[in-house]
Amino acid sequence: MSMVGKEVKYENLSDFYKNILQAALKALDNSYNPYSHFFVGSALLAFNGKIVTGTNCENAAYGSTICAERAAILSANTLGLGSSIMTIAIIGKGKDFDVEDIVAPCGACRQMLSELSQRSGIDLDVIMSNTKMTKVVIAKISELLPLAFGPKDLGIEV
Ligand code: THU
Repeated sequence: MSMVGKEVKYENLSDFYKNILQAALKALDNSYNPYSHFFVGSALLAFNGKIVTGTNCENAAYGSTICAERAAILSANTLGLGSSIMTIAIIGKGKDFDVEDIVAPCGACRQMLSELSQRSGIDLDVIMSNTKMTKVVIAKISELLPLAFGPKDLGIEV
């Protein structure tokens, strides 16, 4: 049992949440991961019902790699949906293996999700799962990144 968030059964999720998990699952087919061979898909749900997806994109200069979550955030922002995201789904697997546990966002992605949640005014639900959907955990971004550094620290309101 996870110490953070709530474990839920896939069958008991709302259609919205099932849909973004499925969108995240589809997105990871386009993962570019020649170095780690790890596939991550992500999907954001906006107030207007639009779903925006992202997948990880690696680079020979390893540190230039962009995670699936941040790829989705940048896409939502580009589409004008940067202030209206309510939920994110994240899903991952290895090339030759399914993970049994959930895939949770890295620290850099939590930081960007935290500010995204301030832009929408919603404490985002972060839905984390494996690709088989045999384990699904939902946590608020504020639980995943407590005491976050943010715009307020710079004297700015977003
Ligand atoms: N990755 C993500 O896309 N999201 C995460 O939350 C964890 C890590 C990617 C980055 C890299 O391409 C691969 O997974 C291995 O770290």
